[in-house]
Amino acid sequence: MSSTLFRTKKVEQSILDTEEPEHALKKSLSALDLTVFGVGVIIGTGIFVLTGTVAKNNAGPAVALAFVAAGVACALAALCYAEFASTVPVAGSAYTFSYASLGELPAWIIGWDLVLEFALGTAVVAVGWSGYIASLLDNAGWHLPAALSGREGADGFGFDILAAALVLVLTAILVVGTKLSARVTSVVVAIKVTVVLTVIVAGAFLIDGKNYDPFVPKAQPVPAGDSLQSPLIQLMFGWAPSNFGVMGIFTAASVVFFAFIGFDVVATAAEETKNPQRDMPRGIIGSLIICTVLYVAVSIVVTGMQHYTELSVSAPLADAFKATGHPWFAGFISFGAAVGLTTVCMILLLGQTRVFFAMSRDGLLPRFFSHVHPRFKTPHRPTILLGVLIAILAGFTSLSELAELVNIGTLFAFVVVAIGVIILRRSRPDLPRSFRTPWVPFLPILSVCASLWLMLNLPAETWLRFGIWMVVGFFVYFLYGRSHSLLGRRQAASADEAHEPGRGDTA
Ligand code: ALA
Repeated sequence: MSSTLFRTKKVEQSILDTEEPEHALKKSLSALDLTVFGVGVIIGTGIFVLTGTVAKNNAGPAVALAFVAAGVACALAALCYAEFASTVPVAGSAYTFSYASLGELPAWIIGWDLVLEFALGTAVVAVGWSGYIASLLDNAGWHLPAALSGREGADGFGFDILAAALVLVLTAILVVGTKLSARVTSVVVAIKVTVVLTVIVAGAFLIDGKNYDPFVPKAQPVPAGDSLQSPLIQLMFGWAPSNFGVMGIFTAASVVFFAFIGFDVVATAAEETKNPQRDMPRGIIGSLIICTVLYVAVSIVVTGMQHYTELSVSAPLADAFKATGHPWFAGFISFGAAVGLTTVCMILLLGQTRVFFAMSRDGLLPRFFSHVHPRFKTPHRPTILLGVLIAILAGFTSLSELAELVNIGTLFAFVVVAIGVIILRRSRPDLPRSFRTPWVPFLPILSVCASLWLMLNLPAETWLRFGIWMVVGFFVYFLYGRSHSLLGRRQAASADEAHEPGRGDTA
């Protein structure tokens, strides 16, 4: 039985599958498209919203160090992702990579995990977007009824209609085709990067050095309450739960990690890339470097403009300009954030439909979902199904509840990918790798440790929710995926043929 659970899909077979005309995606993206795609999804709610939240609650001005810590963990993971993406250039990201290296069950678990991660990530960003739009509408004197502007309506019931509408419109755009979305993305990314650079350059003139004192605020005990809210590491070692101080930087890092999510999504578009062997590593690592530099600069500037205790938690970048007497800049930043979050949402949605598509093409989910649209060449069925589900989710759920769950899912995927690099080097040393992770196995092991460390700094409650989701996935695999797996059927068919005399080897 364990041999079927860990059956691996040959890399050559993964590539062949993408060439079946009914199940093939259009190859149209270049390295530049991928970098734009990466920056388009990476810069989002993390820098525009979470910077203020974690500076105020966990790290003070040292939030810049939290971005460095999270960035280092991501850079290590990126070096592993880049090797996999350049070796296994088919849709599906960590899911596909682990199918080729670790086996079917780990691949299923990762795919299941990624669908959750991207779905919740899309919902989180849609909710953040809706907040900025609502604030712009307020400036113009238009106010949405409370019951339609968030989860906390007047009588406790609310539906975030803006967030849900955004997801539905983006779903329609994705059904029409990736090329169109990539074109829209590049314009929006330009606006977003301009806004971020404006914050850095204009904000630098408004820094007051006193705001950096203390740069790393002293650790403060958190009031006794639900222990499930505390980072797992603090509970494991019986430490008194605290905020700020050195451990506060790591708590902050595990939250602002959300700001980096997305570079891995670039890998999910490998199958739609013209020259994945060369362009994938460039796209992934290029977009990660650009974003890390921007994040550190933005957080240093913003915590210098306003004392961390006074930062806003909903729109910290815009509000820091308001607080220093520059409302015009604040309006411009809010507008750019709202525009920028649109692409983040769209690309997360794209990434997740592609994972779903890949799992369905392998028979682990119904094959119905892996037919591409005859005219648009997009996997329209999972796109529409998941788009509608996420729109409902975005309408009813709150941002902070979900961001940490997204982070743990992504970090888990990083752990599996790093382990996969080591395994694939041993099991398939012959495969051509246009990008090779340096210092294997040392670097992948370091990547596993860094990701696990950030995971341990997430609340115990997040671990519990993640565990429940994974257990459900385990059941789905044993009730459906295992018996419908295309790989399993192919292996069974070739085993039968081998037993029939006179039949040739057709594997
Ligand atoms: N990195 C993306 C963001 O910050 C998901 O919104």
